[in-house]
Formats: sequence, C-alpha cells, structure tokens
Amino acid sequence: MEIKLHAPLDMHLHLREGAMLQTVAPLSARDFAAAVVMPNLVPPVTSLERLLAYRQAVLDAAAPHQFAPLMTLFFQPYPEEILRAAQPHIIGVKLYPDGVTTNSAGGVNDLAAVEPTLAILERLGIPLLVHGESHGFVLDRESEFLPVYAHWAQRFPKLTIVMEHITTAEALTLLERYSNLAATVTLHHLLLTLDDVAGGLLCPHLFCKPIAKRPEDRAALLEAALAARPRLMFGSDSAPHPIDRKETAGCAAGVFTAPVILPILAELFARHNALDRLQAFVSDNARAVYGFTPPNKLVTLRQAPWQVPARYGEVVPFYAGETLAWQVDG
Ligand code: NCD
Ligand code: ZN
Repeated sequence: MEIKLHAPLDMHLHLREGAMLQTVAPLSARDFAAAVVMPNLVPPVTSLERLLAYRQAVLDAAAPHQFAPLMTLFFQPYPEEILRAAQPHIIGVKLYPDGVTTNSAGGVNDLAAVEPTLAILERLGIPLLVHGESHGFVLDRESEFLPVYAHWAQRFPKLTIVMEHITTAEALTLLERYSNLAATVTLHHLLLTLDDVAGGLLCPHLFCKPIAKRPEDRAALLEAALAARPRLMFGSDSAPHPIDRKETAGCAAGVFTAPVILPILAELFARHNALDRLQAFVSDNARAVYGFTPPNKLVTLRQAPWQVPARYGEVVPFYAGETLAWQVDG
C-alpha cells in the first residue's frame, strides 16, 4: 500500500546550529515541504540579520532537498519598525516564558508587559507562537497557562495565537472556544503518557517539555488529530540533544522524532482507519491557519518495513532500533 501527501508541513521544529544542524536538517528536509524553525538558539534569534543568516544555514544544510524554512523571531518587546522589517521573512514570533524550557533564558517574565507588542503583531497580522507553560508544578504548567491564552484571545481578537505542542484535553477545549486560537500537537504526545517517561525505568529520550501527561489527555489529543480537527496542526517539536546531554544526571528536555515522523503517523492513522485525514492533519490545517501556500512537494509513503537506526550522529531517535511498517520513498 502507498499514500501520497501533498506538501507535508512540520509546524514546530528545532534544527539547532553547527554540526547538529548538518545532522538533523536533511532528515526533515527529505520528508517535509516546509517547517516552522524555532528561534531558541544560543543566543536566541532576536535580529533580522541573525535570522537571515540562520535561514541560509538551514537552506545550505537541507540541500539538495526541496524545503522551505519558515523562520521565527524570539519574542522580545520589539518596536514596530523592527517587526515591519522582519515581516516578509518570518511566519511568526515565538514567545517563551523565561526559563520554562531548553534555551528559553531571556524569555518573558512579565506577561502584562508584552501586550503593547501583541497589539503591534495583531495590527501587522503577524502570528504569535507560544510555549504556554507556567512555572508551577510540572503536570499543571500547561493548564495554568490556559487563562493567559484566553485573555489574549479576547483582548487581541485579530491576532492569530498558536498554542504550541498542546498536551492536555483542557487545551483542546480552549481551542474550540476562540476562533483566533490554533494549536500544534506533536507525534510523541499522541503516543506517550507520563508512565512511558517515568513510570518504570526512567527514559531520558522521552523526556520533553511540556512533559507527557495522563492517558485521558493522550486519548483526547489522538482523537482530535485523527479527526484532523480544524486549527489543530502537526508540529513535531523534534528537539535533538547529543546523547551525553540526555543520558546523564540533569537530562535535557527534548524528543528527537524527525526521522520517524511520517512513517509512525501513517501507521497510527492506518491503524485507526483515518489515513484519509492525514493530509489535513499534516498540511491543510496549517495552510488554513497561516494562510500560506507551501512549495509543491509530493511525498510518497509506502508500506515496507525498515529498522530505525540506533543513532543519527550523536542523537538517539524516537523508536531507536525498532522496526516500522511504513517508510518514506527516498
Ligand atoms: C525544546 C528544545 O530542546 O529546544 N525542548 C523540548 O523539550 N520540547 C524546547 C521546547 O520546545 O520546549
Ligand atoms: Zn519546541
């Protein structure tokens, strides 16, 4: 069996820089037509100059694959001229609360203070992408942030606000309530609960922010993804870290899914008789939310087993060593 996807999109991706970028970019660039590239580098992407240089580095690492990096600026209280100048080169601005995840130092401390900048984004029509977690108890962080989304959605009704990597049933309920909210969901949050991460022997390669939640949350996310619910987009949050940053005391947060995303999604959607919804989930919904036309790229997935490598460079992938039923025609 074979399916064809038109311009699959990864709407939340970490590509890093240097040698890591060289390792991981070709894997996403082979399978996806475009991806939203996160700005949480060290230092973060906060100027147009840095953004354009990073974009070129991504394109160079992705060659010869046809692949469009959709760039994001790391949120700061930018003046309007800076945002106007950046607008042709960005898909959105990514807001991190200070210190909530990998490389988020320099993020926001005072949520009220961001509102003047949100008003500018709304006026210019630039989407706001948000890592929506509080600094509270780890299982409650997303839930505690939801009132912030609701407040912004009401206060800035023309601003497109993307709740990145949602992990709870409650977030899905909020998504229904405001038409200017959208959301991404990852592959791993459709498959994992906290039990997979820490219920038995601790699995560092499944540790990420936001942390995987309860079985009922996973069930709600899976149902919404399989239904390709409008404004719910696929965004992998594939976040590579070298093995010595994962298999250590003080494990870095991030799951590296890039090389296995489409095969596992195909298997998952096929198992639930939902293959006809995969196109909407991995592409059409995002086109509608962002109102953009991705490059023409047809990706074929075939039912043919292959074994996931134990490593890609220094990084251990999701499902390392396991045999998957589908593969991308290379
Ligand atoms: C991401 C990373 O490593 O950059 N980590 C993660 O656990 N998801 C950052 C992020 O998206 O939170
Ligand atoms: Zn991320």
